[in-house]
Amino acid sequence: MDKVIVFDTTLRDGEQAAGAMLNMEEKLEIAKQLERLGVDVIEAGFPASSPGDFDAVRLLAKEVRGSSICALTHANAKAIDSAWDAVKVAKHPRIHVFLSTSDIHLAHQLKKNRDEVLALAVTMVKRAKSYTEDIEFSPMDASRTDPEFLRTIVQATIEAGATTVNIPDTVGYAIPEEFGKLIRNLFKKVSNIDQAVISVHCHNDLGLAVANSLEAVRNGARQVECTVNGIGERAGNASLEEIVMAIRTRSDLFHLTTRIDTTQIYRASRLVSEHTGFAVQPNKAIVGQNAFRHQSGIHQDGVIKRALTYEIMDPKDVGIPASSLVLGKLSGRHAFRERLAELGYVLTEEDLNRAFLAFKELADKKKEVTDRDIESLVAQEMRTVSETYHLDHIQVSCGDHSVPTATVRLVGPRGEGFADAALGTGPVDAVYKAINRIIGVPNRLTEFSVNSVTAGIDAMGEVLIRIESDGVTYTGRGSATDIIVASARAYMNALNRLLAAKKRS
Ligand code: KIV
Ligand code: ZN
Repeated sequence: MDKVIVFDTTLRDGEQAAGAMLNMEEKLEIAKQLERLGVDVIEAGFPASSPGDFDAVRLLAKEVRGSSICALTHANAKAIDSAWDAVKVAKHPRIHVFLSTSDIHLAHQLKKNRDEVLALAVTMVKRAKSYTEDIEFSPMDASRTDPEFLRTIVQATIEAGATTVNIPDTVGYAIPEEFGKLIRNLFKKVSNIDQAVISVHCHNDLGLAVANSLEAVRNGARQVECTVNGIGERAGNASLEEIVMAIRTRSDLFHLTTRIDTTQIYRASRLVSEHTGFAVQPNKAIVGQNAFRHQSGIHQDGVIKRALTYEIMDPKDVGIPASSLVLGKLSGRHAFRERLAELGYVLTEEDLNRAFLAFKELADKKKEVTDRDIESLVAQEMRTVSETYHLDHIQVSCGDHSVPTATVRLVGPRGEGFADAALGTGPVDAVYKAINRIIGVPNRLTEFSVNSVTAGIDAMGEVLIRIESDGVTYTGRGSATDIIVASARAYMNALNRLLAAKKRS
């Protein structure tokens, strides 16, 4: 095989990252982008873990036809039945069964011996196989499992019907050379290995997830499990964009391809960052703000003469738009639409109209509207689509000799208006208190940060907040050239998510 299967687990392992909670619409939007990206398999969730995950897997199974949809399950009959129930409507359904195999997990978590685990794995793979052809099995904590036992269980589960066997470095413990050897030895010593695809799933606790995955690929693995922006449990998973671009950029070494349309990478990264509330660090490979910026004079000189001198990839290949037009207040709808398309947005006519109005408003305040401004603006508009309460108006008064005071007006679910006012320790506090007086859902603010989208005094501010209610965290984002307005929008965004979750449950 000269193709590496890209298995994306942003919506499952990625969502397991502390603080990343996605609602149904966000999951669907991300899944659609993963489909456009050309991901082979989308792990949509763990149906037995919660009704929300069950519904999300079912929704994606129904709506996404261009990628296989995978449901994760632990090795338990009821959980496997539930995984199948959720995923069965998919065009290409997959059930992914996992069971720990390391002695440390067996002794302290499962309280079973190796023979019991082996028998359970085989029984559960067979049960999953009774539902569908495409079965993946993961011996969890494989990199800390006794290699001989690992080979036994790989052999047995392939015999039982697993078509993919995934070797997880669950705790990010492996080092590339040793992980590569583990995979190589599976190919040497498991006699039926040619009947399954060998996959890897690496965590980034030592910052080696991508290196370990690539080493596994060099030793025969033909599926990589990864997430957009590398998000995931603890330090995260192997990053999709890094693996894909490494395989592509160093095709001289790998002689392999993927099905990924790399020009969709940047858009996928922005979307995942937007919906999870996890900012991408500026120096992040491939998708960080600085990934293609050259600061030193010598480097700039080289890039001007020939980009190849200091650039191993073309930013256009990962979908970072090369802006040919500067948008401003005289720009028309057509130019705006073109730029949106270049940035990878697919908007309905109605959404385009709303975004264009917001753009005109912004262009009145800001001389030049950059791509980042547009991204922030479109995201802000999209956030308001499924709101229960909408922020209609806000007014604050503050200063070093006055008591911060805020007046807000919200529009409710049936179009009714609500107005109230409050005092606070600062303008944001006053705004939040006034909103709370109207909505009245108890919550606690746990995180608040403001970032400017671009440089310059007229830059848009982006506010990220997290609130907690009944032990659940909700993320909210808002943007505006006025940071108090951006803060109010972020709060409304978090509250609307909270209200939607409460309504669902
Ligand atoms: O890290 C891990 O081992 C997992 C399994 C469920 C594959 O996420
Ligand atoms: Zn994992």
